[in-house]
Amino acid sequence: MKISELRDGFAAEITEVDLNQPISGGTFDQIHEAVDVFGVVVMRKQYLADADLVVFAKRFGPLEVPLKRDQYGGVDKEVTMLANVDDKGNLLPQDTKHGIYMKGNLLWHTDSSFKPVPSKYSLLAAHEVPSEGGDTEFADARACYDDWTGPFGETTKQELEDLICEHSIIYSRTLISGDIFSDEEKKQFSPPHQPLVRTHPRTGRKIYYVGSHCSHVVGWPLEKGRALVREISGFCVRPEHIYAHKWSAGDVVIWDNRSVLHRGRTYNPNQRRVMHRATVTGDGRLC
Ligand code: OGA
Ligand code: MN
Repeated sequence: MKISELRDGFAAEITEVDLNQPISGGTFDQIHEAVDVFGVVVMRKQYLADADLVVFAKRFGPLEVPLKRDQYGGVDKEVTMLANVDDKGNLLPQDTKHGIYMKGNLLWHTDSSFKPVPSKYSLLAAHEVPSEGGDTEFADARACYDDWTGPFGETTKQELEDLICEHSIIYSRTLISGDIFSDEEKKQFSPPHQPLVRTHPRTGRKIYYVGSHCSHVVGWPLEKGRALVREISGFCVRPEHIYAHKWSAGDVVIWDNRSVLHRGRTYNPNQRRVMHRATVTGDGRLC
């Protein structure tokens, strides 16, 4: 296989591997290590069916069950559908409930940080893509940790190590989609606490675990915590630390939610965009 770096130490493209064929242990280990090093790995022209996406994704570990809201589309329960079409494949107007909910992906985030056990890896396969726009952008949260010098007000970089943040999808979706959740959903998503600084168990590299679901710092005045999270999230997404993926149908992109933030970009809503994601469940709080 060939591994080509796309940015300086961040994001790589792997060629000369066909995910439709059985992948040997050695080849898988090389892909896994590339995800460790680069945070984002792009594999083009794979055209993976859901069943094969799931088999490949499970090499990284057990999968998450998608949220009920993401399960429409008749795809396997282990696949999250990110699409602007309905179950029958008809284009959905942007102002439907689903379209409004999907706007949440336009904010920088890390997948499932609002779950008690957030996700390790996401594997996103493009089925149908608009002719322009609809890129997915990735930001290197490891460079953010390495480069941040602080202080934030009186708080030194060292003092950030001990902070705990609350993560909530109710909070993040309300920012961009308004109050869309039922009382039952609000009860179901009781917001977990995650350490602000997480250490990657495979690489030992640290990140600030922020993004849109990260609401505030536990034990700090609400607005002060929100300001800190905004400040660090903004620092994380400096242009020199972003890789923007321009999708073609057939692409598979793997990213490590313990190393990067990501967001979707807008596109012409009259064009179809159909993406299927397998999400590998995580390994706990990673203090
Ligand atoms: C995701 C996601 C953004 C996009 O798949 O987790 O946030 O561009 N996707 O579809
Ligand atoms: Mn996402």
